Amino acid sequence: MIYIFVGPPGSGKGTQAKRLCEQLSLAHLSTGDLLRGAIAQGTELGLKAKAFMDQGALVPDDLVFGLLKEKMNQSQAKGFLLDGFPRNLPQAKTLSELISTESWQLGKVVNFSIPSEVLVKRLVGRRSCPGCGSVFHVETQMPRVAGVCDQCGTALVHRSDDQESVIRRRIDTFLRETAPILEFYRVSGSLVEVAADQSPVQVSEALLKVLRS
Ligand code: AP5
Repeated sequence: MIYIFVGPPGSGKGTQAKRLCEQLSLAHLSTGDLLRGAIAQGTELGLKAKAFMDQGALVPDDLVFGLLKEKMNQSQAKGFLLDGFPRNLPQAKTLSELISTESWQLGKVVNFSIPSEVLVKRLVGRRSCPGCGSVFHVETQMPRVAGVCDQCGTALVHRSDDQESVIRRRIDTFLRETAPILEFYRVSGSLVEVAADQSPVQVSEALLKVLRS
């Protein structure tokens, strides 16, 4: 079974995926995390991807899909939660073909619905753990020790694409390239909406309700 989280940058997809995957027995696959992993390892793919990510643009489809498919093939999981994939119509169509080739089933596609003005504040204050991928916020979700990950003790970083000018370009990219996939999944009957401008606990409850229904 494949579930998909769609939403603009900062809407809380990663936060919720990390909270819910264990409860739902799903493997969390974030294409953003996979790309940042490739950058950290200094691979050729990572170097190519970084230039696009620093501009707030999408990384070319073939690079992202190759990385995702490799990870899916290595996994023994019975279900996947895709966070940040697909991000445009060609990716959505490629994923549909893969689902049908592998005889998987598409579960719910959740749209994290949220006003754009909330996103910049969330992302400017976000601090991310390069070790385990946990996310924090300097005002609303502070780690126990400033600058240190609660889960694994790694020093937290401010992502290079979490500067206001890049955040605004990422939001534009979402509206221009990713929002059209919502109609694609609405037509197929898979799309559900969750209000993401609530507390993390309330968003988790709403997600559990729709994902288990
Ligand atoms: P990616 O890493 O996927 O970034 P994104 O989609 O822009 O999403 P974010 O990680 O920024 O936000 P999120 O929704 O996960 O929010 P979070 O939970 O962290 O992609 C990065 C780049 O990689 C892209 O720009 C692109 O270049 C490339 N890329 C990735 N996938 C690609 C693809 N498929 N194709 C092509 N290119 C691709 O929360 C944000 C903050 O808000 C945190 O501080 C958190 O503490 C706080 N917060 C979370 N929930 C709440 C809440 N309910 N209330 C208050 N605060 C909250």
